[in-house]
Amino acid sequence: MKILDFRSDTVTQPTGKMRQAMASARVGDDVYGDDPTLNELEALSAKILGKEAALFVPSGTFGNQVSILTHTKRGDEIIVGFDAHIVWHEVGGAAVISGVQTRTLNTDYGVYDMEELKNLIRGKDIHYPDTGLICMENAHGGGKVVPLAHMAEVYDLAQDRGIPVHLDGARLFNAATYLGVEAAEITRYCDSVNVCLSKGLGAPVGSVVAGSAAFIEKARKMRKLMGGGMRQAGILGAAGIIALTEMVDRLKEDHENAALLRERMAAFKGVEVDLARSHINMVFFKASEEDFPSDRVVEGLLERGIKINGPEGGEWRFVTNKDIEREDIDTLIRALEEILE
Ligand SMILES: Cc1ncc(COP(=O)(O)O)c(C=O)c1O
Repeated sequence: MKILDFRSDTVTQPTGKMRQAMASARVGDDVYGDDPTLNELEALSAKILGKEAALFVPSGTFGNQVSILTHTKRGDEIIVGFDAHIVWHEVGGAAVISGVQTRTLNTDYGVYDMEELKNLIRGKDIHYPDTGLICMENAHGGGKVVPLAHMAEVYDLAQDRGIPVHLDGARLFNAATYLGVEAAEITRYCDSVNVCLSKGLGAPVGSVVAGSAAFIEKARKMRKLMGGGMRQAGILGAAGIIALTEMVDRLKEDHENAALLRERMAAFKGVEVDLARSHINMVFFKASEEDFPSDRVVEGLLERGIKINGPEGGEWRFVTNKDIEREDIDTLIRALEEILE
C-alpha cells in the first residue's frame, strides 16, 4: 500500500535520480574546501539566488541561526515577526547561539506594518540594544506569500538605517512559483537568505544560505563554530543540485493539488477552509469537533495508510508535496467520507 503523507513537505523521499547522484557523487573534505560537488552546489545556489556566494548547511534552522550569528553581535536586538519560524520553532536559538534579543512585531503572515517597524528600530541611547538585523519570511509558513513591493519597502527602510535584512526563504521557490518570478527577484530585497532543499524540492537533507562573499566567508567560519563543517557532504549536495535544477518547476503541481484539496475539503460539513492563505502548498482549515472528530479522523486515516497531523491551536494543516499525486487527493477525500459517514 502506498503511504500518503500530508503532514508536511519535509516528508518526501529522495527521487531515484537523487539517490543515483548521491551514490556516485565526487566528494572531498569540505572543511578544506575540497568537495567538488558541494562547491558546485554552492556556486549554483549563489547564481540562482542572485548573490555572490552561498554555503551548504544541514537544515533550515541551521541556515537561519548561522545567518543571525553572522550578522549580529551579542546583546543586539533582531526584529522579527511574532509568528516567524525563527521565533516559534527554532528552540530559542537566537538567544542561545547568538546572544541576541528578539523584538517581535505584528505581521499579516509575513507582511509588516511599516509604521510599527520604523518605531521598533532603535535609536542611539546608552540604554538601548543595537538593532542588528531585520528578518522576513517568504513564503510565510502560514501559507501566504509576501508581495515583492512589501519586501522592497522593508529593504529600503533597512538600507536607509544601515540594518541588514535576512530572509527565511525555507519555501522561497514556492513564493517564486506563486509570484511567477525568478527566485532572485525576491532575494534582491535581502542581504542573506536561507533556502531549504529538503522541503518542496525533495532533497533528503540540507539548506543553502546565500549572501555577499564577505558574509558567506564569515558564515562559513560560524558554521564551523556551530559544528556544521561536514566533510564529504557532497553526498548530500548531489541531491541538492538535482533539487535546484529539476524540482523547482514542478512546485506548481503541489500548488494545484493544494487548490483542489481546499475545494474538496470545503465541501465537508463543519469544515471552514481558510481561503486567504492559499498561495502555496498548504491547506488550512478549522473544523467543528462534532462534525470532524479529530481523533477519529487521524486514526481512521492512519488505518488507511494516510498520515496527517491533528489540529494545532484549533487549526488543521494539510500539505501537498512531490509524493502526492492528483489522484491521491481523491483517495484522501474518499477515506474521509468513509470515516465521517
Ligand atoms: C519557514 C521555515 N523556516 C525554517 C524552517 C526550518 O527548516 P528545518 O526543519 O530544515 O530546520 C522551516 C521548517 O519547517 C520553515 O517552515
